[in-house]
Amino acid sequence: MHTNDWEAPRITPLEFNQLNKFGQRRVQSPVTEAIDGVPVATLIERFGSPLFVTSEQRLRANCRRLHQAFAARGVEAIHGWSYKTNYLSAICNVLHQEGSWAEVVSRFEYEKARRLGVPGERILFNGPHKPRPALERALAEGAHVHVDHFDELATIESIARARGVPAPIALRLNFDTGFTEPWSRFGFNLESGQALEAIATVTTSPHLRLVGLHSHIGTFILDPRAYAAQVTTLCRLMQEIEGDGPTRLDYLDIGGGLPSRNALQGTYLPPEQAVPDLDEYADAICTAFLEGTAYRLERGEARPRLIFESGRAVIDDAQVLITTVVGRKQLPSGAPAVILDAGINLLFTAFWYNHQVSLASPARGEPRETVLYGPLCMNIDVVRAAVQLPPLLPGDPLVISPVGAYNNTQWLQFIEYRPAVVMIHPDRQVSLIRRAEDLDSVFAHDLLPDHLARPVGDAPGEGDALSGNIIPLRRAG
Ligand SMILES: Cc1ncc(COP(=O)(O)O)c(C=O)c1O
Repeated sequence: MHTNDWEAPRITPLEFNQLNKFGQRRVQSPVTEAIDGVPVATLIERFGSPLFVTSEQRLRANCRRLHQAFAARGVEAIHGWSYKTNYLSAICNVLHQEGSWAEVVSRFEYEKARRLGVPGERILFNGPHKPRPALERALAEGAHVHVDHFDELATIESIARARGVPAPIALRLNFDTGFTEPWSRFGFNLESGQALEAIATVTTSPHLRLVGLHSHIGTFILDPRAYAAQVTTLCRLMQEIEGDGPTRLDYLDIGGGLPSRNALQGTYLPPEQAVPDLDEYADAICTAFLEGTAYRLERGEARPRLIFESGRAVIDDAQVLITTVVGRKQLPSGAPAVILDAGINLLFTAFWYNHQVSLASPARGEPRETVLYGPLCMNIDVVRAAVQLPPLLPGDPLVISPVGAYNNTQWLQFIEYRPAVVMIHPDRQVSLIRRAEDLDSVFAHDLLPDHLARPVGDAPGEGDALSGNIIPLRRAG
């Protein structure tokens, strides 16, 4: 017969911040016993804890839903998958199979996209640091280079001059939409006149050809009107550039920034109420785009292509993190706390989201405001400062969600190994898509100069007694 552990009875006062405006408890701990039909217990047994779990089905569905939202409004938009959001190879390839291009922001990301087999013509190359060899390669391979600043423009012009082929480029712009805090550090600023100067530089250079305009107005944009204003500004500028002359832009790229259903810290309402529906964004964007590009149809010409670069809205809710309680604490205030095997080393986004925390088995008692600490010997390692959870015991698994955006790229190999990542396929088969780190993989890049090959001095034989402890590292050559 199963018996529960005895627990001392207690009276819990109703605390003001535990209630929402309807006088109800803010969070009931949800239970997630299985992910895409695969029990959490089975996943832990096969792959260990902590473990990132990706849903292929959800990822494909999210991507299709975005495309359909545009298509239903008469716009066949191109999606550029923002690699920095999550560049695990299997995840990128699911999205490439769905037709997404690669949106990359560094030489590394460019090379990664090419290694995965993405052709240059399906790569959007953003970012403030594109080294000359990377630009040379991108231009030779027909990638879409989005210029960030005047020095980069000069480099591209010199590459094009040397190649004897004009370089087709797009300019990244920034401006105030009136609805969001403007980002001014990337691209050329419109209000200051810098953008017009860049446009003049490109359109008067025999070595450059302006083929597109790009802007990314920020991230987790909660007001669809910001996109309407952005698209209207881009369309007006395009029309001005084209004027009565021969210049025709191929595309407008509106960047990313659509929110996911995650709970931003400092937001009063839960995500289901704070985050507008995808259709509202699609309406705002498509209406402005169709109106702003109608002048092309009046001239008997085709509209430019519309590109968007959503990251978090595509992947965030397609991944969860399984973690396990490793110990309990009672804080001096009397509040309960638990230590998990996953912390901010794996959940960088815990700095700005209050992730949902689900039990992976039925609750053992009444929820209490609980602190979730990670495993790091660092004071900042707090996964949730306060979350309603029932009493937990070591060994209890929890499921943290959504975690697909910006964690598998910004995670740290810090103090702990980074764990495995798996993908559940539509047929419920589970594949490992990234192996857990081990001592060999973490040390693979370390080199030891000869005189440091042993931890104790370098006199012959001195470290022999310790040789069993010496890790067989590569010698510096
Ligand atoms: C140029 C660009 N495109 C796309 C994205 C993806 O943004 P999000 O994940 O908010 O959609 C970013 C993120 O900052 C970005 O800088």
